Amino acid sequence: MTEKTPPDDELNLNKPVAPPPELVDHLDDEQREPEWLTEATERPPETPHIDHYDDEDDPDRWQESEDTAELAANEDESAPEHPWSQAEHDAAEVVQLKIRRQDDPFSTPYWQLFDIPSHERDNVLSLLRTLREHPITGSGERVDPVAFEHQCMEEVCGSCAMLINGRPRMACSALIADLEQPIVLEPLPKFPLVRDLMVDRSRLFEHLKRVQAWIHVDGAWDIHQPGLRIAQQQWARDYLYSRCMHCGCCMAACPQYDEHLDFVGPATLAQVRLMNAHPNGRATRSTRLHAIMGDGGLSDCGNAQNCVKVCPKEIPLTTAIGELGRATTVQLIKDFFGSSEP
Ligand code: SF4
Ligand code: SF4
Ligand code: FES
Repeated sequence: MTEKTPPDDELNLNKPVAPPPELVDHLDDEQREPEWLTEATERPPETPHIDHYDDEDDPDRWQESEDTAELAANEDESAPEHPWSQAEHDAAEVVQLKIRRQDDPFSTPYWQLFDIPSHERDNVLSLLRTLREHPITGSGERVDPVAFEHQCMEEVCGSCAMLINGRPRMACSALIADLEQPIVLEPLPKFPLVRDLMVDRSRLFEHLKRVQAWIHVDGAWDIHQPGLRIAQQQWARDYLYSRCMHCGCCMAACPQYDEHLDFVGPATLAQVRLMNAHPNGRATRSTRLHAIMGDGGLSDCGNAQNCVKVCPKEIPLTTAIGELGRATTVQLIKDFFGSSEP
């Protein structure tokens, strides 16, 4: 295996990007130094998939899997046949992917190992796309293609979120050069599994509906007149929250968020903060606040702060949660005195 060349600084997407100077005042310490809270290879707390492992809970059991047994058996034999040419092999470093497969939501998961030629600046998504063309394990067995989601390939759509070496992150911005091998890929926890690396994130959108995470624009002002103005400073603060791509990484890392619990999760709370700050959104501000003042709302947040450490967009989630705490207290007082103000 050849030694890797470290990527250029500007391409190292794992490094925190310095926020624009005009926004620095609004970021707290954790946003200035966003780092995953522990080692990259450590699993986030309460990964629910462990429930599906039955008697084979040992995360290292793959070492005894059929794949590995075959690999061992083939050690002394001639190299397995690979779909790529010798020239391609020679030009690239061979990267090992260890992928947790599951054929459907009810079947038993299993691990498969793949050796894939990788070029400098490849990311996990580009390797998965290569694998989709040639779904052949390291032992030369042709298998069903690995199911995964992607769209934009530039960390905008939020569809390629998965666990990469135990950390929730986007496959399209996870550079191979920065990852320990074998690169372990698992589906995003806390969401119902569809197949392999695909999960169903529709409950995230149900949460957004529950808190009315939108603004009612129609009829708000005469369309021939300019809309309500937002001060530059406020716009800069709100912009941080508008970058959410609903990937679900923060939910996956949150110990309070679970497929079977009611908590709406950090991304939803941040959207309440964003919509309530908008001049048009203020009219329905109290509706959103009431939606997070009950069960499954703000009080379910345990302030573990995992969410803010994994957000690929560095959204100041805990700042939003703090601001909402103050807003809900004010709303409680208004409710007590029967104020009709939104
Ligand atoms: S807040 Fe960040 S981690 Fe959470 S869904 Fe939005 S972009 Fe993803
Ligand atoms: S701070 Fe709240 S929302 Fe964020 S991870 Fe902790 S419990 Fe979840
Ligand atoms: S493919 Fe769109 S965020 Fe990764």
